[in-house]
Amino acid sequence: MHSIFQEGSKKGKKLILLHGTGGDETSLMDIGRYLDEEATLLSFRGTVQEEGMNRFFKRNGLNQFDYESLEQETDRLLREIQQISQEKAIPISEWVMVGYSNGANIAAHLLLERTAALRQAILFHPMSLGVDSQDFSLKDKQVWLSVGANDPIVPKASVDKLVEQLKKRDARVSIFKSQQGHQITLDELNDAKKWLSQMK
Ligand code: MLT
Repeated sequence: MHSIFQEGSKKGKKLILLHGTGGDETSLMDIGRYLDEEATLLSFRGTVQEEGMNRFFKRNGLNQFDYESLEQETDRLLREIQQISQEKAIPISEWVMVGYSNGANIAAHLLLERTAALRQAILFHPMSLGVDSQDFSLKDKQVWLSVGANDPIVPKASVDKLVEQLKKRDARVSIFKSQQGHQITLDELNDAKKWLSQMK
């Protein structure tokens, strides 16, 4: 996978950045820096193409997910994270995944469906992909997520479902609600930044 790695200071957070549909590995770099100016950043480009737009897994129309692609691409992303973490000598448990939209959805899927040491995630405008095949405990996971009441892409029921999936397996979930749409706002960025600063 294409990725950018930028080393931060020792005390900075370690952030994995996962863009939304049509983005690339550069899209969330400024956001990562804003969340923690001293962070180490590892930013990926999704390998799937949809009419020239990069994504992290295939779909057959809005919110019609291709589940085979989802599983394959989740495995691919996890392998890449494991490999780069090994090369850079960064323990997997130190990473915080930061995803927007499609990138948030694959990050949530990774937490819910793979027993990886990844523990923390900031999910901007995620939704449930409707997969709930595991029941291992998520009590070591901490998730911050944002919801826009006027989001034309994420149905309310679908974000409620994601929160339920996380909470019923004991993940700690912090929710930022706004009246906005699908875009990332300064208010939510500031809330995510505050949450991140309190994470250990
Ligand atoms: C997805 O396909 O993952 C969601 O609909 C969000 C998006 O449009 O990227």
